[in-house]
Amino acid sequence: MKILDSEFQAWMGGVQARMETVLARLLPAANLAPARLHEAMRYATLEGGKRVRPLLAFAAGEISRAAPERLEIAAAAVELIHAYSLVHDDLPCMDDDTLRRGKPTVHVEYDEATALLVGDALQSLAFQLLSENRISDDPRVQLEMVKTLAVAAGSRGMAGGQQIDLEATGKTLSLPELEFMHIHKTGALIRAAVTLGSCCGALTEDQKQRLDHYAKAIGLAFQVVDDVLDCDASTATLGKTAGKDSKQGKPTYVSAMGLARARQMAEALRGEAHAALSDLGAPARRLAEVADFIVLRKF
Ligand code: IPE
Ligand code: IPE
Ligand code: MG
Ligand code: MG
Ligand code: MG
Repeated sequence: MKILDSEFQAWMGGVQARMETVLARLLPAANLAPARLHEAMRYATLEGGKRVRPLLAFAAGEISRAAPERLEIAAAAVELIHAYSLVHDDLPCMDDDTLRRGKPTVHVEYDEATALLVGDALQSLAFQLLSENRISDDPRVQLEMVKTLAVAAGSRGMAGGQQIDLEATGKTLSLPELEFMHIHKTGALIRAAVTLGSCCGALTEDQKQRLDHYAKAIGLAFQVVDDVLDCDASTATLGKTAGKDSKQGKPTYVSAMGLARARQMAEALRGEAHAALSDLGAPARRLAEVADFIVLRKF
């Protein structure tokens, strides 16, 4: 398997820096009324995070030769939903976390009600962006993209997965149940990032299916690695409190199969993601590298 090289690191840094600028421009100014809400939205979104979903959107856009100006919007929309999901995930009524991206969580820095509203407003902004910018030549495709993100964020996607997570806390899940939870709470948005990025350009049905297969594998791998790192990495490197899953009795791939087998599972999913790309040729290189990053990352 390929090791991440400096050329990839430079590409990744470029997308991350670009997204920082784009998100800073698209979010309401911190001094615009209601200033406390806008300041908290910026606090939740800017200066932090690996920007994995934007990386996936940009990498998928290479398959369809999508314009970067369109990819920025698609990537920002997915990242805003992701940022909202983190703010709500950290609330006392959910995972009750005080540290995120190396900073106090939004409800700690501001207050719970503001954190709720930050999530609401980030979600709305995501859909505003997808509707007010032209991101596909075909308006019907663009409408499909709006729907894709809506479904991925909703009760049959991320929010549904979060409900399953809450109900499963303190219990043991079977492997199929665990997979079902993970592909919803995390996989759905990862999959949407790949779909939205690729749909900014032109795609064949065959390419679409291969990309979706890739996205499903890497979406699950992402959460398996998140489970591994919770048990295996430090609070300092993660920027969020380590060891929370076992402390809270969350069923994870580590609790279900142990650290070593969970790592093997992530590795197998990386292989599956790579295999799905095999007929997509040279433009799939970035997606392969992002898959490597997702599985080999240490934070
Ligand atoms: C953490 O996501 C929450 C999960 C979905 C597992 P990330 O690991 O992508 O968080 P950031 O955006 O880099 O902070
Ligand atoms: C969070 O999963 C998934 C979403 C935010 C939708 P986790 O609860 O495992 O994420 P972390 O570990 O707090 O980042
Ligand atoms: Mg959670
Ligand atoms: Mg959490
Ligand atoms: Mg976690």
